Amino acid sequence: MSNTNTSTTNTTAANVATITHTNLAVLVSGRGSNLQAMIDNIENGNIKNANISVVISDMADAYALERAKKHALDAIFIDPKSFANKTEYEQELVNILDSYNTDLIVLAGYMRIVGKDVISAYKNRILNIHPTLLPSFAGLHSHKQTLDYGVKVSGCTVHFVDEGMDTGPIILQSCVPVLENDTEDTLSERILEQEHKIYPQVVKLFIEGKLKVEGRIVRVSK
Ligand code: GRF
Repeated sequence: MSNTNTSTTNTTAANVATITHTNLAVLVSGRGSNLQAMIDNIENGNIKNANISVVISDMADAYALERAKKHALDAIFIDPKSFANKTEYEQELVNILDSYNTDLIVLAGYMRIVGKDVISAYKNRILNIHPTLLPSFAGLHSHKQTLDYGVKVSGCTVHFVDEGMDTGPIILQSCVPVLENDTEDTLSERILEQEHKIYPQVVKLFIEGKLKVEGRIVRVSK
């Protein structure tokens, strides 16, 4: 999969340095702890050759926007209510994403189903994280669904986004035990710790060109 803008600095014919760089756009709706994990991993050098070119929120008061501003990132609120319909909202979204030369869209707590126009414009270039072991407990209220069902193991899943809700090809998962006295909060906290590890790890794999999508299967090369 080709996933980066590639620019070439020409020195001599025998010494051509190829610099690849990936522009990330992070879409958020709320707290933004996964955004923060991405920022931290870029700043500490774990994720190389990438930057967050824009953070876009569909909620005016998303704390994620504050986090973005603290790190001098472009932070944009787009109000879905100011568009006649979802198609127009998403057209504007695509315009903004394109204007930032986005290579990879990272959904980080973005509480909307991404529509077909965005998906076709960014095919296999949209990631999402979900706080269960998909395909179990897709959709909203994941922790409540998990506890109500009584499973003993849960976790989180990073996947490519398709037109379904949490149905795209799975890239990486991490497990956590569900404990006897867990509440939604304690379970969520334990899973979030894993989210902050595997999401940056997947972004890194994407940037390094190590993800290959074959139908539903994602091959991860070493
Ligand atoms: C996370 O639990 C993520 O798995 C889900 O939404 C939550 C977002 O949290 N998609 P944050 O905004 O990244 O803190």
